[in-house]
Amino acid sequence: MNVLLLGSGGREHALAWKLAQSDGLDKLFAAPGNPGIADHAECVALDPLDPRAVVAFCTANAVGLVVIGPEGPLVAGVADSLRAAGVAVFGPGRAAAQLEGSKGFTKDLCTRAAIPTAGYARATSREDALAALGGFGLPVVIKADGLAAGKGVVIAESRAEAEAAIADMFAGSFGDAGAEVVIEEFLTGEEASFFAITDGVTVVPFGSAQDHKRVGDGDVGPNTGGMGAYSPAPVLTPALEARAMAEIIAPTVAAMAAAGTPYSGVLYAGLMLTAEGPKLIEYNARFGDPECQVLMMRMEGDLLALLLACAEGRLAGVAAPRFAGTSALTVVMAAHGYPGKPETGGAIQGIKAAEAGGAKVFQAGTALAGAGLAGAGLVASGGRVLNVTATGGTVTEAQARAYRAVDAVDFPSGFCRRDIGWREVAREAGA
Ligand code: AMP
Ligand code: GLY
Repeated sequence: MNVLLLGSGGREHALAWKLAQSDGLDKLFAAPGNPGIADHAECVALDPLDPRAVVAFCTANAVGLVVIGPEGPLVAGVADSLRAAGVAVFGPGRAAAQLEGSKGFTKDLCTRAAIPTAGYARATSREDALAALGGFGLPVVIKADGLAAGKGVVIAESRAEAEAAIADMFAGSFGDAGAEVVIEEFLTGEEASFFAITDGVTVVPFGSAQDHKRVGDGDVGPNTGGMGAYSPAPVLTPALEARAMAEIIAPTVAAMAAAGTPYSGVLYAGLMLTAEGPKLIEYNARFGDPECQVLMMRMEGDLLALLLACAEGRLAGVAAPRFAGTSALTVVMAAHGYPGKPETGGAIQGIKAAEAGGAKVFQAGTALAGAGLAGAGLVASGGRVLNVTATGGTVTEAQARAYRAVDAVDFPSGFCRRDIGWREVAREAGA
């Protein structure tokens, strides 16, 4: 079967790498892809946000499955157009992608389905938001309703800070995403990411991970898309995972189906593990980046068969996903300046040397400078550039291997955190 993968980041490189191992794959296309993805796929100049162009490409190239990586095409309704044209697609339609696209939508669904989450209020004007603020203690969480690339969240320690955040959002600092604001009760606990694959009816767990959102060692500095991750997240014990499935994921899938907008694809739940049990912080309608990279390193079996069964509503009939018992850890190498304006064009060398010890370097923001030979002239072209990924019997071992590989990469205009996995490494040292 021919498969089209939409996206161009490290998440998509990991998906391409894993799809390329599937027996059922004839030809993999990626739009737009990147030089790492090009090792496994033909990269095509196709706008992944243009539903008509994507459908036309699939018809012309006998594509049997489209795998959507990022949220942009989901929210643009690319999955809807493909389904209407009879092309199987892994990823939810526009209505179901509101689970990521609108925080207020998800909070209301949680209320209807009695799903544990932080108490909240929605407001569409500054006055309403300020009036609602009185009902919350401190700290309080202020969120832009829409997609804000992970940046539309303020944890306010004082009322003045909360009022300033509200004023900011309604003044348009996050564009349309801030036309509505959600105010939330502050939850305490450790965060974990939990993934489930669903065809709208059947739901199967797809592993756990922990991300590192802040740019600096020790979790300081501005938020990023993620500076590293590891999987599994042992804090999400089998008992807690079972509760998350029963109390959060399953009722969500049932409520989406009951509303006539069944959710099909991967559901990524950001959980807070509170004293009362897991509570939903947010949903994403896609694999996390870089969480996907560590999940793909551990997944056993055929990714294409699983994603196709999901897209065709046949999940109940296929074997549940299986993962290696080892840990996987990925370190993001970013270009100086990230998460602000990254320095692009910096040379990257040493990927082969980094991979010699068994690590895998997934490429995110990379490009080939000039029309050199394959692998030559690789340069940085984005904020997050490489995801250096390794496995080990423990997180400590996976971490040591990943940093050994990081040290073999020659990327003078890049940087990385040196403490990815610190929580688990500390727990393993104390065990
Ligand atoms: P979100 O974009 O909704 O995932 O929020 C970004 C980050 O803000 C989360 O990963 C949490 O660290 C934090 N956060 C969001 N909502 C809450 C909450 N209600 N209580 C505590 N922390 C939160
Ligand atoms: N790493 C966080 C995300 O993909 O949303």
